Amino acid sequence: MSEVADNRTDLTYGPAAPEELPRLADVLSHGFGFPREGALPWFESAGHDNIRSIRQGGLTVGGLILVPMGHFFGGKSVPTLGVAGVGVSPEHRGARAGTTLMRSLLAEAHARRVALSSLYPATVTLYQRAGYERAGARFRIELDPRAMPAIHAPDALAVHEAPEVVPELRAVYTAYARRHDGFLDRGPYVWSRVTRPRDLVTKTFAVVGRDGPEGYVVLGHRFHPERDATHLTLTDAVATTGRAAARILALALEYRSICERVTWHGSPTSELVMLLPERHHTVSIPDYFMVRVTHPEAALSSRGYPARAAAKLVLELRDATLPAASGTYALACSGGAGVATRASGRPDVVLDERALASLYTGFATPWALRALGRLEASDAACEDLSALFGGPTPCVVDMF
Ligand SMILES: CC(C)(COP(=O)(O)OP(=O)(O)OC[C@H]1O[C@@H](n2cnc3c(N)ncnc32)[C@H](O)[C@@H]1OP(=O)(O)O)[C@@H](O)C(=O)NCCC(=O)NCCS
Repeated sequence: MSEVADNRTDLTYGPAAPEELPRLADVLSHGFGFPREGALPWFESAGHDNIRSIRQGGLTVGGLILVPMGHFFGGKSVPTLGVAGVGVSPEHRGARAGTTLMRSLLAEAHARRVALSSLYPATVTLYQRAGYERAGARFRIELDPRAMPAIHAPDALAVHEAPEVVPELRAVYTAYARRHDGFLDRGPYVWSRVTRPRDLVTKTFAVVGRDGPEGYVVLGHRFHPERDATHLTLTDAVATTGRAAARILALALEYRSICERVTWHGSPTSELVMLLPERHHTVSIPDYFMVRVTHPEAALSSRGYPARAAAKLVLELRDATLPAASGTYALACSGGAGVATRASGRPDVVLDERALASLYTGFATPWALRALGRLEASDAACEDLSALFGGPTPCVVDMF
């Protein structure tokens, strides 16, 4: 893409030039409080094409990293531009560089017809100002393995150490993730964070039945001298059968002689959590993720819908922060698929861009959005919206 200049603020957004990378490494490492040497490998793993900068009068004042991937909704992968590493140099903060950076990114995503953008916010208001809204949760599950009763794991399953999450296991992940709204259709950047997280050495174990893998776990075990104990972190735990979930839990409990804490991120209604026999675990939400619908036709046409839900609705979107997306859309859904096209006519639903984001993922109900004055619709239209978009709280397990 080419550069975009904002004449009012003298700010210019565009792909980071190679000569800007050292300055960006400085701004982002300082902004996030990690050693400068860590920034260039980070840029490397994201791919230099995915780094954007914002400049003022020729000086790079901030930037961000794009993470192209997908979110599963209704069983289909919806393209998203994940956003990581949003940062502005301290002396340039508070002058709208961050807001301009985010709004420029929206214009880029819309022009590229990318359906969504998603991120984890350090500050919610900055992103709401660009039309993102809370759209799901990252649930953290924590237990003390010493307090757990033994979990019976069936003998029919073997556990093998694997060299990494090989393609056969990645296929297990995708089959599982497809059934969970919000889960990422991971790209190389996210996969590398699963297998090579910062500050943790991992091992991968495949759980294999007669017909092939039924699950796997990637875990890191670390000693904490101040506690004279270890913590076990499951950076990925996927089970497509109940018995594979039991085998993964049983494996984690094998660390209990020395380990005082096992943690992972996952759905609170996953087989792994539902198998926990006692109350000795906690489920918390340390992070909400935010979504922005950057191209409504692409977003509404590419997600899946409940196979038995059928509806035709006219939506009027009032998008103040991405005017190119504003307008009226006809959405027709049946047989698990939907088609959205620009249309005219009396709308059944009127909503703003932030309401659309949290409705689209199933995080907010139409009734809650209506009560908040963010969506206008009749009871019948709310019933239709609920049937099309409603479901368990969407979740993402990966940090990006
Ligand atoms: C967050 C950050 C990118 C904002 O950049 P900026 O150029 O100052 O942003 P803007 O001037 O456009 O401010 C937009 C809004 O963001 C919010 N915001 C900005 N800086 C903030 C901060 N330090 N803490 C909390 N909210 C902040 C405010 O709501 C602000 O609007 P307001 O001034 O009307 O209250 C910058 O403070 C930064 O680099 N911080 C360190 C790294 C970080 O936290 N990045 C975000 C990771 S998700």
